[in-house]
Amino acid sequence: MIPKETIDEIFNASIIEDVIGEFVTLKKRGANYLGNCPFHNEKTPSFTVSPAKGIYKCFGCGKAGNSVNFIMEHEHYSYPEALRFLANKYNIEIEEEEQTDEQIQTANEKESLYIVSNFAANYFVDQLHNSDKGKAIALSYFIERGFTEATINKFQLGYNPDEWTAFTTEAENSGYDIKYLEKTGLTIVKEDKKFDRFKGRVMFPIHNLSGRVLGFGGRILSSNDKKAAKYVNSPESEIYSKSNVLYGIYFAKKSITQENNCYLVEGYTDVISLSQAGVENVVASSGTSLTEGQIRLIKRYTPNITILYDGDAAGLKASFRGIDMILKEEMNVRIVLFPEGEDPDSFAKKSSTEELTTYITDNAEDFIQFKTHVLLKEAGNDPIKKAELIKDIVESISIIPDQIKRAIYTKECSTLLEIPEQALINETNKFLRKKVATRHNLPDQLADEIFHPIQEEKKATGNEEVEYWESEIMRLLLNYAHLLIKIKVVNSENEEQEQEIPVITYIVHTLRNDEITFENPLFQRVFNLYAESLKENKILTQQEITQHHDNEISQLAINMLSNKYELSPNWAKMHRTYVNTEEQQLSLGVINSVNAFKLSKVNHLIIDTQTLLKDAKSGDEENKLMEDLMRFQKIKSLISEKLGRVVLK
Ligand code: CTP
Ligand code: MN
Repeated sequence: MIPKETIDEIFNASIIEDVIGEFVTLKKRGANYLGNCPFHNEKTPSFTVSPAKGIYKCFGCGKAGNSVNFIMEHEHYSYPEALRFLANKYNIEIEEEEQTDEQIQTANEKESLYIVSNFAANYFVDQLHNSDKGKAIALSYFIERGFTEATINKFQLGYNPDEWTAFTTEAENSGYDIKYLEKTGLTIVKEDKKFDRFKGRVMFPIHNLSGRVLGFGGRILSSNDKKAAKYVNSPESEIYSKSNVLYGIYFAKKSITQENNCYLVEGYTDVISLSQAGVENVVASSGTSLTEGQIRLIKRYTPNITILYDGDAAGLKASFRGIDMILKEEMNVRIVLFPEGEDPDSFAKKSSTEELTTYITDNAEDFIQFKTHVLLKEAGNDPIKKAELIKDIVESISIIPDQIKRAIYTKECSTLLEIPEQALINETNKFLRKKVATRHNLPDQLADEIFHPIQEEKKATGNEEVEYWESEIMRLLLNYAHLLIKIKVVNSENEEQEQEIPVITYIVHTLRNDEITFENPLFQRVFNLYAESLKENKILTQQEITQHHDNEISQLAINMLSNKYELSPNWAKMHRTYVNTEEQQLSLGVINSVNAFKLSKVNHLIIDTQTLLKDAKSGDEENKLMEDLMRFQKIKSLISEKLGRVVLK
């Protein structure tokens, strides 16, 4: 835990153009800086940094944030990691809150395992390049497979000599505790005998996100020894949890972000060959099906996965269910099938980079389409098989969380399967209902009653209007909270007087008076922050909000503050008049927006009440609802009056 005061200190010390300037070439343009966005490929710069506001915004891809967000996004750091990075840059000492002995112990233990693994990786690399056997057997093996010197170095490939304890002895002589050698699995200890787990194998170190070695895969060299496993892998340890690691992720992460896609292959050598061929956004699941942890790891960088598959049809079908899991994580999945007998490694080797990338792009097919094609081909004209296949496809579709995507797939599949769309929708709804039923432990029938099927059209509820106006209020608050506006108040003698108060005071008082709340919980949270500090006669500054430790709050503020007219220099020139108008006419703008917000809330209430009235079960209920309705109508006309001639929808 980093103490709150230190976090503030780090934020205050961070000069945004400095922080970003380390990674992006920035040119001064008026009050701002401009550069090429590091988060997407662009030729004309649209990445804007505002020193005054301490924020950045890309008008190309929409990414926006403060100094800490930038480091998180660019370096893929967690919040505390980004804070530490900046603390280090600005020489701010972080006094960590005290750790318990137990915490210190585990931290030390983990660190020891990393250190031992690093030693081992270096030892294996040294053996590969500098020992006679290493050069003669192992290095030549890699070279024969077509790996270049640069590739061998990049992936830190190595060799564990073909002797029982070559590595273990070296490690112990260098002062490493056998306890850690055993825990990392590098040494196997049986009774009082020790020996190297990876004896006589070429070594593939596995790196974590920040490039530290946490485990190994060791491949056998000779193909004559049919009994020995082709690969031996490090066992699970405190630093190596297989289900949360992907081979190659450290080398791929930058390219995954840039390409906004991640290729998934099976083996170590597939990753290495593709990477050598220039396709760097590639990771391997190391021969097992993907786990949720691995999917989440990819999702940190991109929502798109392309699976490069080299197996046979049976293996492919078996993997369909696993792929459904990726869909469930709201990711887009595509499949590339390799020609029979080829895997990405062999294919990359015999093709030019261009042939390889062309093959991949030409053959990538959306998973649902792919699955439909495969199953259709299999079912042929058998109606029973076809019925089964429809259920199967529909189940995959129903797993996709996004309703719009589901609708698109349903349409597509109805064409592919030659089935009316409505039939597929009904089938999908069955699965969705079942899910609801299981989640809430209800019998299917009851779920039917409470569950709204997907095709039901959304009726206008007046909600859009509320959404619009409450976000407009938020925008005004965040941009102009401290500015003064003129309002008319009635004094005790019943005379109208003009008074100047800050925007924030006007908004907080008016909304509190009328007991109006925001429907968007995030807006309400921000509003509460302002209201709280107003109680202490303080007005939150823009910096306090854009640097708020709650990321949702700071992101909202940054997005609402980085409007085009102010941040982008060209826009500012073209629209200077517009910018001026809003500030000059602030009083009118704020008062009208607050009234329009109120009006939209009342409209919403009116529509709700009307709906209830339609279904009223008793005369009493009807009367009460009618009363409500009349009251709301009255409020509505009062507000409309105040709004005067301003036309609102
Ligand atoms: N694998 C494993 N243990 C085995 C076989 C395979 O852990 N006995 C894992 C490895 O991570 C391997 C992946 O499954 O990389 C894919 O297996 P395979 O295609 O057989 O290996 P390749 O990496 O392609 O190796 P090579 O090209 O040398 O055959
Ligand atoms: Mn292979």
